[in-house]
Amino acid sequence: MFGSTGQKIVRAAGALTKRAPLLIAGFSVAVLCFILLNAAMVPVSKSEYCGGQCHEMNIAYRTWELSPHGANRNGLRTECIDCHLPPKDRYFAHIADKAYQGGKDIYKHYFGDEYDMGTMRARVLARMPNQRCLYCHDALLDKPGSSAARIAHTTALAEPEAQENRCVECHPGVGHERQSKLFSP
Ligand code: HEC
Ligand code: HEC
Ligand code: HEC
Repeated sequence: MFGSTGQKIVRAAGALTKRAPLLIAGFSVAVLCFILLNAAMVPVSKSEYCGGQCHEMNIAYRTWELSPHGANRNGLRTECIDCHLPPKDRYFAHIADKAYQGGKDIYKHYFGDEYDMGTMRARVLARMPNQRCLYCHDALLDKPGSSAARIAHTTALAEPEAQENRCVECHPGVGHERQSKLFSP
């Protein structure tokens, strides 16, 4: 009744119908994993988790809470991950970096050498991209700021690649302090 192409199509359709439950199951598992991953990300993305769990992060955490990024008159909180990870709307970059950094931090906590703040500071400072800051501070020149700031920022934004024009070059201690004298242990 069918030509050979017709038979092939019928056979393929049959095979597909047989596998349909498998495909649906596979797809459902993928969706479920996606939902679980996102749910699992919520608690481990909180600043309280990032900073409160281990002694290495404690000074950063406790002083961040008192800093303009942790507490300001607008009630807008800049979380650890806002500065230390790619933005959440770059989903895969965010997740991948989170997994890598989180894994590394946990490994170093248990198996690494004594935490060396100086080395870590230098490493973070060398890598912190302007883009991280500009994600929120995108209207630097529009705001009526001090003239010192205006001059510095006009220069900085004109030539953002230059080492001396990086945000953290002039604002190195912007996220938190490095000593515990601001709070009692
Ligand atoms: C506004 C941006 C910003 C925020 C928010 C921020 N950081 Fe940082 N962080 C930096 C910069 C810049 C450095 C490198 C310079 C320095 O250490 O001061 C740094 C360095 C660090 C370091 C390495 C040096 C050290 O102090 O031990 C750790 C650990 C750290 N941050 C953890 C955290 C944690 C935990 C939070 C949240 C409680 C947080 N950061 C929030 C910008 C930020
Ligand atoms: C998630 C948004 C966000 C990110 C990311 C962010 N900031 Fe901010 N920043 C804020 C908010 C909100 C304030 C408080 C503004 C206020 O008090 O009016 C602030 C305040 C500041 C101030 C003024 C602090 C003071 O002492 O008054 C500086 C300087 C600053 N940020 C620099 C940076 C730099 C440099 C980076 C990148 C390492 C950065 N910020 C990343 C939101 C952000
Ligand atoms: C060449 C040095 C320099 C660079 C580079 C620089 N800033 Fe500033 N920034 C200043 C000075 C100076 C002030 C004024 C400080 C004050 O008034 O206490 C300032 C103030 C600020 C403030 C406080 C609000 C305001 O506008 O007065 C924010 C926010 C800020 N800078 C964000 C940034 C960001 C984001 C970058 C990177 C794109 C950056 N700065 C790069 C020198 C610099």
